[in-house]
Amino acid sequence: MIMKFKIFRYDPDKDVEPYYQSYEVEASPKDRILDCLNRIRAENDPTLSFRMSCGHGVCGSDGMRINGTSALACQKLVKDFKEDEEVLIEPLQVFRVIKDLVVDMDPFFERYYSVKPYLITTTPAPDKERLQSIEEHKMFEGAIRCILCACCTASCPVNLDKATEAYIGPAALVRSFRYLFDSRDEGSKERIALLDNKDGAWGCQTKWMCTKVCPKEIPVTKEIFEVKKRILKSKKGRM
Ligand code: SF4
Ligand code: FES
Repeated sequence: MIMKFKIFRYDPDKDVEPYYQSYEVEASPKDRILDCLNRIRAENDPTLSFRMSCGHGVCGSDGMRINGTSALACQKLVKDFKEDEEVLIEPLQVFRVIKDLVVDMDPFFERYYSVKPYLITTTPAPDKERLQSIEEHKMFEGAIRCILCACCTASCPVNLDKATEAYIGPAALVRSFRYLFDSRDEGSKERIALLDNKDGAWGCQTKWMCTKVCPKEIPVTKEIFEVKKRILKSKKGRM
């Protein structure tokens, strides 16, 4: 079958403004959209830029907008689209375009690192390891599936709004949830101080877009809600 694509193109070094370019490529129903993009680049247009690495939903590098929705190109199959439909491929919103489908992820990772995405401990290390029960691990096991693809942040209406773009965004909050609910972590006071403000957990307006687009099916909005509840509990001195 022949698949048709309409792809966002922009090279700030030579283009006055972005434009869309159409391509046609031979594909089979089980091919992924990422396979089609690779074929376009290999056989048709080596100037087309996009990120990819693992090809299997693990690295999080090929987040892009496919027919207007943020997704991983390696997780979308050709058979999910109509043959006569022109599939629209655009870069993730919110971030600055570096070239074509490649966006500047630095602001995303700055926010991610701002929430201290690592175990904080204050007590002396035990002889072996800090143990955790299966039940304690279950508290945050959804959040550890996050591959930092930024699809959630790029779809969040709060991050999309210039007036509230300083909001740290759903991915950073998922990581905060992961450590706030980790029984081994001893940094909750520090974490809550970082999150208890309008650009932190309270920036979330519960719009659910993050949950809708997350390719790892993480209950993002629910986890942000749990972070908010944890902040309130700690203020009431219950934690
Ligand atoms: Fe991607 Fe989901 Fe992690 Fe957001 S929460 S960065 S959508 S994997
Ligand atoms: Fe790694 Fe898609 S290429 S997640």
